[in-house]
Amino acid sequence: MTPRFRHHLYPVALAGAIAASTTLVGCDGFVPELGQQTQESCSAADSDPSTDVKFGTDIVAGIFQGAAACLPCHDPLGADPEGYQEGGLDLTSYANLRSGGVNSASAIAIPGDPCHSWLWLKLTSSPPSGSQMPLDRGAMAPAQVMQIHDWIAEGARDN
Ligand code: HEC
Repeated sequence: MTPRFRHHLYPVALAGAIAASTTLVGCDGFVPELGQQTQESCSAADSDPSTDVKFGTDIVAGIFQGAAACLPCHDPLGADPEGYQEGGLDLTSYANLRSGGVNSASAIAIPGDPCHSWLWLKLTSSPPSGSQMPLDRGAMAPAQVMQIHDWIAEGARDN
C-alpha cells in the first residue's frame, strides 16, 4: 500500500465514523456560517471512489470552459478578466490554477482536503471571502460542484 493510498483511505474511514455517530457529517472543524444542508456540509471523502474525475475533460472542458464559464473572467486574455484582475486567479493551466489567487494561494486546491480548498469553498453559498462563483452566472449544478470536490479529494492531479 502506497502512502498516497493510505492518505485517501483515512478520510473515508473518518467520515464513516462520524456518519455512524451523528446525522451531521461535519468537516474537520469547518463550520459554515450560512447555508444549510448538502453542499455546505462537507465531508472530505470522495463521493464516488469508483470514478476518477479527470482534470482535462471534467474540470477544464466540462466546467471552466463549460456552462459555468469561469474562463472569460479567469483568463488574463479573456473577454472581461475581472476574476484574474481582482481575484488573481488564472485558470488557463493546471500550474496556474495550483498557484491560486490573492486570498487562496496554495489553499486553492489542497490534495485530499476539499473542505478547506478555495476552489470548492467559492462554489458554496458561504465562500470564505467575496462572492459565490461563478459570479453573475447563478449557482453551478450540484453534480459539477461535487466533481470539483471529488477531484480535490482524489489528490487534485493533472490527470
Ligand atoms: C463574471 C466573472 C466571473 C466568473 C464567471 C467567475 N469568476 Fe471567480 N472571481 C471573479 C471575481 C471578480 C473574483 C474576485 C472577487 C471575489 O472573490 O468574489 C473572483 C474570485 C474567485 C476565486 C477566489 C480567488 C482568491 O484567491 O481570492 C475563486 C477560487 C474563483 N473566483 C473561482 C471561480 C470558478 C471556479 C469559476 C467558474 C465556476 C469562476 N470563478 C467564475 C469573477 C468571476
